[in-house]
Amino acid sequence: MNVPEPVLDLARSARRVAVLTGAGMSAESGVPTFRDAQTGLWENFDATALATPAAWADDPATVWAWYQWRVALVRRVQPNAGHRALTDWARAAHVQIVTQNVDDLHERAGSHEVTHLHGSLFAPRCSRCERAVDLPDPPEDPVARLDPPSCPACGGDGRPGVVWFGEMLPQDPWETATESLREADLLLVVGTSGVVYPAAGLPSLARSHGVPVVQIDPRETDLSDQVDHAWRTTAAVGLPALVDALRIGTDTPR
Ligand code: APR
Repeated sequence: MNVPEPVLDLARSARRVAVLTGAGMSAESGVPTFRDAQTGLWENFDATALATPAAWADDPATVWAWYQWRVALVRRVQPNAGHRALTDWARAAHVQIVTQNVDDLHERAGSHEVTHLHGSLFAPRCSRCERAVDLPDPPEDPVARLDPPSCPACGGDGRPGVVWFGEMLPQDPWETATESLREADLLLVVGTSGVVYPAAGLPSLARSHGVPVVQIDPRETDLSDQVDHAWRTTAAVGLPALVDALRIGTDTPR
């Protein structure tokens, strides 16, 4: 895989790299993207309708069962070569990852600087008092409905620790994200359709600060005309090729 020359030039000269990742980052690990069809038990459900406060208010057991299915799925899969390439790149540059993903694949690939804009599958909290709630093990086989755990402090329902459509993003991760973009020499946008705000506004924010933006996505998206270079490749193909071309070896000291 040849890395486009403009992309390589930008990557070579970047000391600080910000990377905004979306569901496409984990697709080659086997995690379906948000706008792809769900599979198995959940194939007739619309993910964008389940990830809402209204769905939770209406039927918490269905929403909880869906999130527990996703917990089980993510636990079964492994980080892909794209996740690992970002970890390797951090040996040679300051790489700050800002992810919309609620999986833990960047961390499991060994990346340390990861900001989760939309929360995590693995950090449920009480829907009443906001305290952390232990994550139960998901059932072996997927089920259609599952009672959420009770909060040990107040007895409220534990809810997934993710940001649903229509909810505010937590402030600290947002501030970390915007700061890392402003300070970056390059923003790489990997595998996001760019339709969900405010995250989708980050590439144009970076550009308004003079930060060049490169997109890695096999398809054209709403962001494609807002980037300096749109590279039509996938995360697990493009990122290792790029890091390879930068000649960063596993023996490069951190
Ligand atoms: N490598 C790179 N990109 C890929 C790959 C791949 N292997 N496979 C698919 N893509 C791209 C698709 O072309 C698409 O542009 O990943 C993008 C996935 O888009 P979405 O499914 O919309 O996911 P995302 O942009 O992360 O969604 C944003 O919306 O549903 C909410 O909170 C949820 O965080 C999510 C947010």
